[in-house]
Amino acid sequence: MTDTEPAPVQLPTARSCPFSPPDGYRPLREEGLARLSFPSGPVGWLVTRHSEAKALLTDPAFSARQEGLVPPVPTELHYAAPAEPGAFAKTDDPEHGHYRKLLTGFFTVRRVRELLPLIERITREQLDVLAAAGPGADLVEHFAVPVPSRVMSELVGIPETERAALQRHVDALGKITSTIPEAIDAITGLGEFLGGFVPPQLAQPGEGLVGDLVRGGKVDDKELMNLVSTLINGGFDTTGNMLAQGVFALLQHPDQLALLRERPELSDGAVEELLRYLTISHYGASRWALTDTEFAGQQVKEGEVVVVALGAANRDPERFAEPDRLDLTRDDHGHVAFGHGAHQCLGQHLARTTLAVAWRELFERFPSLHLAVPAEQITMRDDYVHYGPLTLPVTWTEESA
Ligand code: HEM
Repeated sequence: MTDTEPAPVQLPTARSCPFSPPDGYRPLREEGLARLSFPSGPVGWLVTRHSEAKALLTDPAFSARQEGLVPPVPTELHYAAPAEPGAFAKTDDPEHGHYRKLLTGFFTVRRVRELLPLIERITREQLDVLAAAGPGADLVEHFAVPVPSRVMSELVGIPETERAALQRHVDALGKITSTIPEAIDAITGLGEFLGGFVPPQLAQPGEGLVGDLVRGGKVDDKELMNLVSTLINGGFDTTGNMLAQGVFALLQHPDQLALLRERPELSDGAVEELLRYLTISHYGASRWALTDTEFAGQQVKEGEVVVVALGAANRDPERFAEPDRLDLTRDDHGHVAFGHGAHQCLGQHLARTTLAVAWRELFERFPSLHLAVPAEQITMRDDYVHYGPLTLPVTWTEESA
């Protein structure tokens, strides 16, 4: 370390408000690039400013390869080996681009538009389930979790019978306090599913994305399993948390909810603003330096890990006017809630559309929707990679369902 380097800090994770990023980010952002102490020993860096977040995530001196990453929070779950072929999210180009390109065609704006009837049907079916569960029901269990995972399952071709178990496995792997036996159990469960699902598709490609990939003839069984696993991990857990967290935030900001109801044309902008304001990636995005390099005026050494705090960047006053205000009329949408650069979220258009449909239909169907318990009693997913309410008990007057 040089004389000018700040003292290392631990990754801030404590939030005084469930809708704001951890409080500890604010002073760090004012100082710029911070020294970050990792629980397993090494010292790396923490990016909290918006401009530096974008710069880091597009800087070829930094790698997303799994083998160099270190968890920024205490956890027993640490994957130190290189990612397997097809698990492209934790690789760099050319491997990353090679696999990502096989999938991009399934997640374009046009393809997602074609999925709209499916998304609307599933949303309405889950609203029936929520209504049947009655006032006091958990919105997370009956609506927010199943809507996106059912959409993903249909898209990929995963049988409905497998969905609940897969959801449990993804949940265990996204929970940083899971024990090693719990993680092994989840990995084994996922492996068993993939082992039963992928080989028959290779022999006889079915409907859906996996069948199309097989017909494309560019992937072997191992690659296909890892591609499917990447999609399940990316798509099962993220949108559901954002959906539930958005409902929680809107119910706690009734002026904004009223605005959304009165002006449906605000919907697309509202989705962007909620993504910015709530940024569910609890621990940000991590990269490591492939070589000694200068970044944001500091000397970063080869092998050092940099955490990009996406939530802090999305509240940067240098980038957003009044960043701590939820303003659904805001038309400045340059947020990094989906990351930035080569690894920017593959499923972002699907997520946006699912969120827009789900919020619209939910508040149309239940105009009197409100929390069934005081907001302070809502338990948050403090120990998960993706933040949001663990449960969200909601209620409504019977005539509105
Ligand atoms: C609101 C919902 C979502 C949020 C907030 C979100 C957030 C993110 C973020 C921040 C990244 C970048 C991570 C990094 O740079 O290290 C990412 C990547 C990714 N996301 Fe999402 N995501 C969402 C929904 C989805 C969905 C529905 C899918 C389903 C296909 C998906 C699949 C992926 C994949 C495969 C990657 C890795 C891309 C790559 O490395 O090239 N995500 N997501």
